[in-house]
Amino acid sequence: MSNFEYASAPESKAIANIATSYGLFIGGKFVDPRKGKSFETINPATEEVLSKIGYADKLDVDLAVKSARSAFTKIWSKTPAKERGKYLYRIARILQERAREFAVVETLDNGKPIRESRDTDIPLAAAHFFYHAGWADKLEYAGFGNKPKPVGVVGQIIPWNFPLLMLAWKIAPALVAGNTVVLKPAETTPLTALLFAQVCQQAGLPESVVNIITGDGITGAALVNHPDINKVAFTGSTEVGKAIARSISATNKRATLELGGKAANLVFEDAAIDEAVEGIVNGIFFNQGHVCCAGSRLLVQENVADEVLEKLKARMSLIRVGDPMDKNTDLGAINSKEQLKRIHEITKSGDAEGANRWSPECKLPSKGFWYPPTIFTGVSQSHRIAREEIFGPVLSVLTFRTPAEGIEKANNTMYGLSAGIWSDKGAKILWAAKQLKAGVIWSNTFNKFDPASPFGGYKESGWGREGGRHGLSGYLKSDVKASK
Ligand code: NAI
Ligand code: MG
Repeated sequence: MSNFEYASAPESKAIANIATSYGLFIGGKFVDPRKGKSFETINPATEEVLSKIGYADKLDVDLAVKSARSAFTKIWSKTPAKERGKYLYRIARILQERAREFAVVETLDNGKPIRESRDTDIPLAAAHFFYHAGWADKLEYAGFGNKPKPVGVVGQIIPWNFPLLMLAWKIAPALVAGNTVVLKPAETTPLTALLFAQVCQQAGLPESVVNIITGDGITGAALVNHPDINKVAFTGSTEVGKAIARSISATNKRATLELGGKAANLVFEDAAIDEAVEGIVNGIFFNQGHVCCAGSRLLVQENVADEVLEKLKARMSLIRVGDPMDKNTDLGAINSKEQLKRIHEITKSGDAEGANRWSPECKLPSKGFWYPPTIFTGVSQSHRIAREEIFGPVLSVLTFRTPAEGIEKANNTMYGLSAGIWSDKGAKILWAAKQLKAGVIWSNTFNKFDPASPFGGYKESGWGREGGRHGLSGYLKSDVKASK
């Protein structure tokens, strides 16, 4: 009998029309940075250079903010909400039409499996535009007063883990509410934002309503500190979130900050174990664990811990690590050399502090940035790997004896973004959900997202909510007099 060899199912790169270089998107067109500086974006799975990207410094940031201000005053704030909604619908439909192209570009630039960019990132980004388009003719009935007003010019800074999706989370509510934006994508993943700039042109969006400037943390800080922005919307590390909060504290700029997490995924003794194991895998290995709401702390009730771990290890042995463009791949490349270094650094502390590391056997590609799916058992609350965000495919496993102990351990964190509960008892799920201090709580599932559902955290996980009516409120000023 012949061997059943593994056959890959590679997606084609042909649809991705990546230019050799990109300028900044200011005033409805691509322009060269004033000082002509640029940086490269690479494919983290191969280390191949994909394109040369314009680097925006203070002068360019100023130009982008001026252009957004002029569009706000002259055009967008005067465009009836119903008309604004039409542009959002158009953008949503173009994203759907060009979904395959976006998925390929996202995977090449970010390293995430094509299955995820195709089935999660791009459809959800389009869904955010559809959802917010639907608000356009209902803003007066949304509980913000008779005539809610836009905030003005919004500076938006996004991370590299869900590049297009985070752009959609930021731009869709801002635009429907009548704001104009200057958005800065992360330095390692600028390509889908630049492709989105082309979508704005294709949709005939009035010039300067959306401006996209590329660069690094210095560019981001210049945007945050620009005197003429009215609001900062940031997603990224808690460290930078704190710096932003400090730098705007003496201004009247508004801010929403979506920061880190160290979510507990609680498995009670009465859980359906096979389903829980699927949920654990999805919770920590989805998107290489580069997920702020990842279920990175598994808390399992002691009497089922052996069974859960045995099944988890068997399931992890089936995770396919490798080429992100292969449609069969489950775990792709780590987004950057720097992130890989951070993962190594924190996980080494796990070894040093006495936790036990386990990974299934897997062959990692020789080029690019890779980390195998990993679990640590024998973890205690004081270990760095139990407290700090690793932001990689690494799960810390702790146990508990009583439900009360489980909740106490789950809440013993500086974060409070998300949590998971696995139990077949409805009453226990409701009881646990009430005790958990987290913005999003999933029961018998994990990492489920919907534009109608608000997302955000407690404590060092940030300020404010994104998505749903709650998210919209961050982009509107209530008409207080009218609502009295
Ligand atoms: P980061 O917070 O430095 O980067 C996020 C964005 O902020 C990027 O666009 C970056 O250019 C920008 N930025 C950096 N410094 C800034 C500043 N001073 N002012 C304004 N904007 C600034 O995150 P980084 O260094 O890429 O990752 C470090 C760690 O942060 C990760 O290991 C992970 O733990 C966490 N992280 C959390 C994310 C989340 O979704 N909550 C996303 C990305 C990172
Ligand atoms: Mg890249």
